[in-house]
Amino acid sequence: MARWLGLRSVLVLLALASLALLILNGVISQESLSKVVLGDRAGSKVKTELFSRLSGGGSARSVRADGHAETSRSTTPAGAVFATVTTTLQTLSVAELATPGMPAPVEEESAPPSFQLARDLCPLGFYNISDLETCRLGARTLRKRFAGAVDAGHEPSGCLHRLADNDVLFNRAFSRKRNRQRQLICADRIPKLVEVGSQPAVEVESQPASSVAAPVPSSIGNLSITGRVCPEGSFAIQTPHRCETAAKVLSKKYIGIMKSLGEPHGCLHRVGDQDVMFNRLRTPQQSDQRQLVCSTEKDPEMIRAKKLSRSDALQLKLYCFAWTVRSEREELLLPYARSLFQGCDGHGFFTDREASVTPEERDDFVQVDLPPTQQNRSEKFWLLLKNMVGLLPAWKYLLDMNVTSGMDWVVNLELDHFFVANLLRQTIGDYINLMIQDGLPHQNPWEDPVMLIFGNVFAFNAALVASMKREWQTVGQVISDRGSLGLGCPVISGARAHAEGHCEQDMVYEHLQDVMPLAIVGANGCGNLAVSDSLIPFPLGCWQDFPYGDDEAARLRALNKLVQIWKFSDQEAESYCTSAWKWVKSRALSAPCCAGSEHGEGEEASCPKLVRSRFVPIIHNVKTPQLHAAAQQLLPLAEWHVSRVEETKDTQNTWRTVRLAGSPAGGPSP
Ligand SMILES: *[C@@H]1O[C@H](CO)[C@@H](O)[C@H](O)[C@H]1NC(C)=O
Ligand SMILES: *[C@@H]1O[C@H](CO)[C@@H](O)[C@H](O)[C@H]1NC(C)=O
Ligand SMILES: *[C@@H]1O[C@H](CO)[C@@H](O)[C@H](O)[C@H]1NC(C)=O
Ligand SMILES: *[C@@H]1O[C@H](CO)[C@@H](O)[C@H](O)[C@H]1NC(C)=O
Repeated sequence: MARWLGLRSVLVLLALASLALLILNGVISQESLSKVVLGDRAGSKVKTELFSRLSGGGSARSVRADGHAETSRSTTPAGAVFATVTTTLQTLSVAELATPGMPAPVEEESAPPSFQLARDLCPLGFYNISDLETCRLGARTLRKRFAGAVDAGHEPSGCLHRLADNDVLFNRAFSRKRNRQRQLICADRIPKLVEVGSQPAVEVESQPASSVAAPVPSSIGNLSITGRVCPEGSFAIQTPHRCETAAKVLSKKYIGIMKSLGEPHGCLHRVGDQDVMFNRLRTPQQSDQRQLVCSTEKDPEMIRAKKLSRSDALQLKLYCFAWTVRSEREELLLPYARSLFQGCDGHGFFTDREASVTPEERDDFVQVDLPPTQQNRSEKFWLLLKNMVGLLPAWKYLLDMNVTSGMDWVVNLELDHFFVANLLRQTIGDYINLMIQDGLPHQNPWEDPVMLIFGNVFAFNAALVASMKREWQTVGQVISDRGSLGLGCPVISGARAHAEGHCEQDMVYEHLQDVMPLAIVGANGCGNLAVSDSLIPFPLGCWQDFPYGDDEAARLRALNKLVQIWKFSDQEAESYCTSAWKWVKSRALSAPCCAGSEHGEGEEASCPKLVRSRFVPIIHNVKTPQLHAAAQQLLPLAEWHVSRVEETKDTQNTWRTVRLAGSPAGGPSP
């Protein structure tokens, strides 16, 4: 296969194939699975299987996005439905009027509505708020900070006032939950909405490279549900927000956003159950079971943020930090790790108060107070699989002391990561650009909270760091129940902490999306691949695919091989595996020997794994000083790669003026 297909296409196909398999098996769906798992399980025969299954169309199982309200289902027969409504946004209110308990729409843009706080039920003459914009307006009118929208099944639905911090938030999820710490915000009428499909005006420090204009206000138009193409004079709805609005106007249940390779792209009406959903993935699929929702009004023009050039990406300011228990093993790695962390614009190592920290180390070591746990510090595996016990206080320190202010991204790494700050900057830039290309509302990496996942390394953008600070009341909660195994773990770790006592960062960080609006992009699990909405794989963020085995000697052999492979030109790298296979095959024909030679036995299987590592920003499981030392041979090659890409992609060769690894680090001062 690889003979005629070129290495890159093979990798892309493998990525797509395994993605499709997982989706077809119902393993993945929906936003939270913006990460897509690609393991070894993706065999080469998968490709053909994928495309035959894909062309089978609607066999895919799509999983529900969230627990949205079970509203009364329209009894309209399947087939073409045509809902004629007037073309202003007023229609939304008119449609809502049909639901009992909904207020009359405001006739004129005259007086703004009044708002009131209520415990359980809105007082007479006041109504529940069912949309984000009215909730935002309510917060403003009541002079409270608006903390944004959440999808939290454990919170009451609607527009809520949180007593603890006096913030207002809008919970999109349907729930019947009550909470004495939350008040309802009620309005005496629904105001005329001015924006649909718009992004919320999140207050963040301005970013140099961003130029996102507010979308033009628009109306939902005359809607129709048709077959595979929209009728002349109407347009397919391309944003989730408008899809949701359209569902409301059509009195259909909106079941949310999904990522499904087996479905057509866009705002879809499912013939079977008459629900409306939005498939983010830009697939070329068509299906008789899925009808397009179309509108006579085009989606508002989204002016996208400018893409980052390679040299812009090298200007990204990174703060890198790690938690360490200062075990003997980790201490041996520290000198190597420190020199890598110094490639970031700021860095810090966090440990507990009982660890010894010398005065010289205080430049980049911070000691934090830990909550009580079920373990004694002297235990051999102290805090193993529980590093959030240390990371949460580390975050508190970073946020309280404004350590990361001015940074674009805050990156949580570990001492057994070999990483190159400049490759990390470039990779973050590539991820940002793919997100900009996808262009979904609320996913602007410059303005909206975004978490990038590179295996078990997590990068937080400035907007997310700001949200975490705002939401610290919730995010910073620690399990304090002495009867729980999870004592000392963050409350957001959930059941796993209580049941097993574990709270690893790669199992916990993603739960932030339960308590704040958050876009998560990338693949959890080192070596896994994620794919953008446009079906373009994100560059590999983390590599740990040591092909010769996991003992130190085998890993050393692999790292030394990487040094050789990173020196190849792209062409050489592409042909390398093919030629390795040819060589093995020709040897196999002439003589059954190969051991000890350049392309030894097993090279066939290991070759693609090795080549896949090229210029990956992070290598994981570099667990001994010897391995770190071997990996350091990759540093000059990485910097050479960064400069070379600059030369070919940019006419002005600016990279040299930009920082290189080793720039002075502004570590936190305790
Ligand atoms: C308004 O919201 C509250 C709390 O979520 C709920 O109990 C009540 O039934 C809602 N009222 C209407 C009319 O939807
Ligand atoms: C929408 O429907 C109304 C009523 O049928 C019609 O008067 C109006 O022209 C339609 N608008 C568009 C843009 O087609
Ligand atoms: C921790 O140490 C104390 C005193 O040394 C002991 O009583 C306790 O049982 C230990 N706890 C655990 C979980 O081992
Ligand atoms: C951090 O920044 C906030 C807001 O700018 C400020 O109020 C606070 O005093 C700062 N804290 C420190 C320790 O500098």
